[in-house]
Amino acid sequence: MTGQLGILESEIAGRLFRPIHYLGNKWRALSALETAVDELSPPPGAALDLFSGSGVVAARLGQKRPVIAADIQEYGRVLASALLMPAHLSDSKQHALLNQVAKASATRTGEFASLLEYEIAAFEQALASKGDRLAEILEQGSMMASGDSEIADGALRELLMSALEGMPKGADTVLTRYYGGIYFSYKQAADLDAIASVVRCLPPKVRDTALAALLSTASQIVSTVGNQFAQPIRPRSRDGRVKHESVGAVARTRQLDAVEAFRRWLTQYQDLPPSAHSHQVMRGDYRDVLDQTTATVSIIYADPPYTRDHYSRFYHVLETIAVGDEPDLSRVTIGSEARTSRGLYRAERHQSPFCIKTEVRQAFRDLVQGAAKHGVPLLISYSPYSNGSAARPQTRLMTIPDLESIVNEHFDHVEVRSMGRIAHSKLNAERLNIEVNPEAEVVIIGRF
Ligand SMILES: C[S@@+](CC[C@H](N)C(=O)[O-])C[C@H]1O[C@@H](n2cnc3c(N)ncnc32)[C@H](O)[C@@H]1O
Repeated sequence: MTGQLGILESEIAGRLFRPIHYLGNKWRALSALETAVDELSPPPGAALDLFSGSGVVAARLGQKRPVIAADIQEYGRVLASALLMPAHLSDSKQHALLNQVAKASATRTGEFASLLEYEIAAFEQALASKGDRLAEILEQGSMMASGDSEIADGALRELLMSALEGMPKGADTVLTRYYGGIYFSYKQAADLDAIASVVRCLPPKVRDTALAALLSTASQIVSTVGNQFAQPIRPRSRDGRVKHESVGAVARTRQLDAVEAFRRWLTQYQDLPPSAHSHQVMRGDYRDVLDQTTATVSIIYADPPYTRDHYSRFYHVLETIAVGDEPDLSRVTIGSEARTSRGLYRAERHQSPFCIKTEVRQAFRDLVQGAAKHGVPLLISYSPYSNGSAARPQTRLMTIPDLESIVNEHFDHVEVRSMGRIAHSKLNAERLNIEVNPEAEVVIIGRF
């Protein structure tokens, strides 16, 4: 049976902001989802959000009821923690934190002053429609990859190698050494490292909120299409010519001040209202979370991935920030040469069964069976997203009828509801700078 939950609406008026740019996030569907959840299980019964991602659904539900939020990615745990249980710093503590950040940022860049000068000149040139130098940085600018054989000899390589030599190894410099040049400017990456090093020393509860502000900052200032970390900008057209206009746009993004962006994000998290309910957040595989959750929950919400795109590839930089480690990077072999992957992905990344054609059916069986054991309604979102590439259309790995029949095996009633189209007018969308997803959102509901 197909019903209508009503029109999706703009959430701009709500108090909740969008913490990161996240594929498949349900930010624009929050009201409709909340209505569906409340109808299936009126508050204040607890909700379990098994794939919390950017944390926006958990945060919305958490305004009315206790929530257990889980995701396999550590950045998901951090965001859910900050949105559900924001730490509120006194003015003087916030001031002290920002002072420490400013100090750490000021001491960072001495080790590679010449590279910074080279970069500033690249910005000036790119803004004057001469993007060659910035294009080279975008393609070959990671210090970590500077030893690879396909990196051209020249001024940039020399600067990268000497910067790398002069910089201490370890988690406190990882963002500069790995991602500077490719995803951020060197200055931005060094500032992100400086902020991370201060934030990691904070007590756990404050740390999650400050770390979330850092994740939001990285997601805001990264210079890629769609603000993901799967595909670094390609600054040349197929014939090898530099795309001066888009490189100029990158130069502008790369001049954004990361420390100032962090300050603003921290304020936004601080302004979130304290929750009246007691929440839990965790990092974990949905099967373990379903098995190990002994608390009574009244409803389970599941928003698993629905395409081949692994979130661990699209958001690996956020994971490195959240985990605070110095990961091995994946390598690709071309001919007899092995080189660092262009996207500088973490070698160990979670491979979700929902993104693998041969595993997705069993993944859903495990989800539905595990959820049914809790004896409460299950609401699954399974909606397409577009990653902006017309050449590579994104399709669901499972059909809705297949999914319905799996839910039917374990629940007494199954219902598929279309959530309607996103209602805000084109004018509104343009003014608020949000994309309109023309494809319908769908939820599958299992009840006893
Ligand atoms: C469609 S997104 C969820 C979006 C979220 N509802 C929001 O509004 O931001 C799917 C999420 O599933 C997570 N995920 C993938 N495989 C998982 C697994 N085996 N266990 C738990 N979470 C998983 C991904 O990390 C991703 O955050």
